[in-house]
Amino acid sequence: MYLVFPDVATIADFVADALASQVRARPESVLGLATGGTMEPVYARFLERVRQTRLDVSRLRSFNLDEYIGLTPDHPQSYAAYMKQHLFDVLGFDPLRHHLPDGCAPDEDGYCRHYSSAIYQAGGIDLQLLGVGRNGHIGFNEPGTAFDSTTHVVSLDERTRIDNSRFFAEGELVPGRAITMGLRDIMSAREILLVATGAAKAPTLAAFHRSGVTPELPFSVLKQHPRVRIVLDAEAARLLPAQACQPMVQAVLPARSA
Ligand code: GLP
Repeated sequence: MYLVFPDVATIADFVADALASQVRARPESVLGLATGGTMEPVYARFLERVRQTRLDVSRLRSFNLDEYIGLTPDHPQSYAAYMKQHLFDVLGFDPLRHHLPDGCAPDEDGYCRHYSSAIYQAGGIDLQLLGVGRNGHIGFNEPGTAFDSTTHVVSLDERTRIDNSRFFAEGELVPGRAITMGLRDIMSAREILLVATGAAKAPTLAAFHRSGVTPELPFSVLKQHPRVRIVLDAEAARLLPAQACQPMVQAVLPARSA
């Protein structure tokens, strides 16, 4: 069942509430964090919740999904810079608690093994946030990625590079490689929340609905996870059968003063 919200604002409220509830219930939670345009309103709303409710985030831990190879953390299009801008400048960043894959590690294979084992040493991810690429990638696990993959280096699909070029300056090349948590790392999370918004994702969700579990559509592996919620706006859900969609309107709207 897909949870379908009228718009991006109501999704952001819902996901921000889910994150805040997780942190309230377990302040030392380990979150799996995603980047991309989809998450920007989510993080903005979450920071509002942190401020409004004085949520204690001092013990929170996190692991980011992915990073471009070759971009240093101060490169404006690195995911490290994205996280700083959208979350950590306000939340506070402690490198001992908040982990971002290093896109410039000299020993790539050794670093990948270290990143996956750090997740397990932290006790595993309690709540994993995911966006999805138009080709069904999660993190940067492109079509064809093995389901038992751990953190690894990938060559990006041409379509992914074109899609992500909107975040780069004109004429600046999107890196061809990235480091990403693997599908096994993602599936090890105790709970998963995938968010997709906008009409461009509608065919991807329709393919997910029709598809069996196949590496050709990496996020189809989520069908095997016991606690996954797929959160969509009306545009992303537009090609899904109505009976598979649970409309989410009043029930999740937080009380607002008039
Ligand atoms: C990017 C990221 C993913 C992200 C996805 C969707 O390539 N590597 O982690 O979830 O693609 O991005 P967006 O939210 O901008 O559509």
